[in-house]
Parts: sequence; C-alpha cells; structure tokens
Amino acid sequence: MRIEFVPVDTQAGATAALAVLAHEGAALSPEARAANEATGGALARAIAGGRFTGAKGQTLDIVAPHGLEAARVVLVGVDGSGAVEPEAVELAAASAFHAIKTSGVVELVLKLGADAESAARAAFGARLAAYRFDKYRTTEKAEKKPSVQVIKIAAADPVKAQKAYEPLAALADAIVFSRDLVSEPANILHPEEFAARAKGLESLGLEVEILGEAEMAKLGMGSLLGVGQGSVRESQLVIMKWMGAADKSAQPIAFVGKGVCFDTGGISIKPADGMEDMKWDMGGAAAVAGVMHALAGRKARVNAIGVLGLVENMPDGNAQRPGDVVTSMSGQTIEVINTDAEGRLVLADALWYTQERFKPQFMIDLATLTGAIIISLGHDYAGLFSNNDGLSEKLLTAGKAERETLWRLPLPAAYEKQIESPIADMKNIGGRPAGSITAGLFLQRFVNNVPWAHLDIASVAWKKPSADPTVPDGAVGFGVRLLNRLVADAYEG
Ligand code: BES
Ligand code: MN
Ligand code: ZN
Repeated sequence: MRIEFVPVDTQAGATAALAVLAHEGAALSPEARAANEATGGALARAIAGGRFTGAKGQTLDIVAPHGLEAARVVLVGVDGSGAVEPEAVELAAASAFHAIKTSGVVELVLKLGADAESAARAAFGARLAAYRFDKYRTTEKAEKKPSVQVIKIAAADPVKAQKAYEPLAALADAIVFSRDLVSEPANILHPEEFAARAKGLESLGLEVEILGEAEMAKLGMGSLLGVGQGSVRESQLVIMKWMGAADKSAQPIAFVGKGVCFDTGGISIKPADGMEDMKWDMGGAAAVAGVMHALAGRKARVNAIGVLGLVENMPDGNAQRPGDVVTSMSGQTIEVINTDAEGRLVLADALWYTQERFKPQFMIDLATLTGAIIISLGHDYAGLFSNNDGLSEKLLTAGKAERETLWRLPLPAAYEKQIESPIADMKNIGGRPAGSITAGLFLQRFVNNVPWAHLDIASVAWKKPSADPTVPDGAVGFGVRLLNRLVADAYEG
C-alpha cells in the first residue's frame, strides 16, 4: 500500500472513495459540506435516512454519489463540534479505511484536516489500520482481500505534511515489525530466528550482539538457562544498542523484554485448550525490539539499550523439574516450584545483566508475565509496577497519549513472604493471591539502585477482537508507541 500527500483540490476518481468528517449531530466538516454541495445534498439525505450521528468511529458509506466522480463517499464521525485533535484524525482515518477496505475501491482519498500534523496523523492511522498478517494464506479468495492500494491524503502543504509524517512512518514501521514478530508461529520464530531478525536491524544503524548458551553459562545465568533447557532450540540473549545522543558516553536508558517464543508451561504443562496463544509469549521482547527499531528509524537523540531474553519453554527428558533449584547471575538461588512461572526466571538474569553491564538511567521490562493481570485489569490496561514514582508518572502519561494505557499496582513488602522458600533464597511462585504483584516482587529482587518499572502486558499484547481501529485483531505491538513517546517526551536531549 502506498501513501501520498496531495493538494487539497485533488478530486477522488472513479475507482476511489473520498473520506470526510462529520461531528456530533451529524454536522458536516467543511470538506464534507463541499461534497454535500457537489452531490446536490446526497450526504444530508443519507444522514436523514439513517442513524448516523457523527459519533466517534461511526461511518456512513455513500455509493455512487451523483455529481462527484468518486465511487463512494465515506462520512466518518469524530464526536465534538470544534477543532479536531490529531488523535481524532488518526482514528477517523483508520475507521475510514476499515469502512471501504474490501469494497473494491483501489484508492482512498482522505480529507480529514489539511494542516501538516493532521495529514501526517491521518497517514499514520491508515497505515496502522491496514496492517495484516497474511503471509501464510495461499487460498484466500480475491474478493476477501483488501482492495485499497493507494491512500491519498489532502494537505495544504503536501511537502510539509510528508516531512511531518517521517517520524510517524518510522514508528509505524517499528509497530509493524513488532506485530509481525508476535504473529509468527513458534515453529518459525524460535529464539535463534528472533535473534536473527533483531540482528537484521543493524541496517538501521543499531548495533546488535547475540549471546548463546555457552556465553550465558559463563556469565552464570542459571535462571534463564534452566527455562530453555528442555528445548532443542538454543536460548539467546540479544543486546541491541542505539547510541543516538550527542554524547556517546552519556548514561543509556534500557528496555528488557521477556521473549518466551513458546510457553507450554514446561513440566508444569498448561492445558491444551488455548495453548496456541502462548506463541505470543514473546510480546515483551517484540515490544523492546520494536521500540529500538523506532528510535533508530527516527534517529532519536538518546542512548538506548534493548535486551531480549529469548527461550522456548518445553517439557522434555532434559527439562527443568518442579523443585529444582537454580542459581541466577545475581548469585541468588531460586526454587522452581512451577516451571510455568518461567518469564520471571528469564527476566531475573536479563535484568541483572542489563543493570550490571550498562548502569542505565532506568530499566523498564515488558513481559506477558501473568494470567492474573487479565483478571485484575481486563484487556484495556497493562499492569505497571515500579520502585520509582517519577518514572511511573511519565509512563502513565505516555500511555494515555498513545492509547496504551497502564494501571499502577503496588509492590507491598508484606507480600514478600509469599515467595519465601524453605531451601533457597526464594521460590518462583507466590500462590493465588495477588499473583501479578508477587511476580513483580520477584523481579524487584533482581534490581538494585536503579529506577525500574515492570509492565505486565499479558492483558494487552493481543486483542481478539480489537476495539481500536488502528489495532488489528491479534498482535497489537503493544509498548512500541508507549515507549517511543516516553523517550521523545522525557529523555531526548
Ligand atoms: N505466559 C504466561 C502468562 C500468560 C497467561 C500470558 C495468559 C498471557 C495469557 C506465564 O508464563 C505463566 O504461565 N504464568 C502463570 C504463573 C503461575 C504459574 C504462577 C500464570 O499466570 O498462570
Ligand atoms: Mn508460563
Ligand atoms: Zn510465559
């Protein structure tokens, strides 16, 4: 799909749909009024003859309007009555795309706001809405495939709009990269393949190091290695560096991702029903790889480190057993009561390594860590756990701005006793009460004096179905927008 910025007087042709806005009460935007006049009032009649109110996300598709060459006019609701915020334009563009994506039109002309920022956000919204993971479909019927090939966005100054779109295009590329990783099945995307795809990002100017099992053993990463020990696939630790700050020696920021390419539960095996969802258990690592992609893609002025802990959790003759005790890189020992609480074991070593090697300004980990976070928050919030109020506030703000919302939960010292072990420094599960919190407390034991936040994204890494038109059903790419915004607003010099 191609995206072009065009002058505002561009007319939608015979194979195109024209999209324009309507406010609450179905009040027409200037572009919609122009289309209504050109068609002798077809838009007004279509509104009068139906239930379109101009509410956010509503669309009304008017076919073969007399007086215009366009094959269709799509009215898109944006709520309110006054100025249209860039975010509303992004959502309207996405909704317009969905309204006509398989209609047969090959072109979509968006007239949703002519200033450079609105036009750029329209392009961004349409691009995200058009995401599809269809590489394994070989027999899909032509009429089911999206027909739209070109999106034209009307802008007062198309060159300026194109310029404004550049950082958003870099972000969209990164989100697509992340969604693709999450969507890939686990027979294709095993730890080495994931590492290879991360390595491929060197073309953007990132530096990528890959550690295998022998190197991790030398570092003493018994906690991470225990998880991967039942898999024929080799565990990997990937270190991605983006040194974009003017001062290359300035303290970096760091992101750490849980990358369990498939989580069967191991010997504490999961029930068969729904287990296929566990190909998504590398969503944290995909978010970290995605944000590194975004930072490099838009040449962010920051030094950033991304660390991915990549493993496959399988049952096997060589798999770790419930009751095994492993020694982490930190020296702390862990009694593995349940091999299905594996994400925290991976992160224990990845967090310790990151903090020891890079002494970052802060560390944020992302992980599809607990089913309990879905019970706590449902699918509209990820859990935020942190030892730092300032970092938490910045994350909450960034989350709101990007519609990747977080809800902070506490880390009460009193719950530490739930993860005490009679024979080791800790055990890896804390029982049913506050399961996401005890997971957070476990991780905190591998964090020293560095501002740290843990995002439990098990609730948001994939959606079925999605309510946001910029997010597909399936892989969200959650975290890329959020962290990119955090960096842009708070950490770029
Ligand atoms: N990957 C799962 C968490 C998960 C569950 C993510 C459902 C997405 C949807 C994690 O490794 C896991 O199995 N957690 C266990 C922890 C328990 C054994 C303490 C869980 O949540 O049941
Ligand atoms: Mn598990
Ligand atoms: Zn898991």
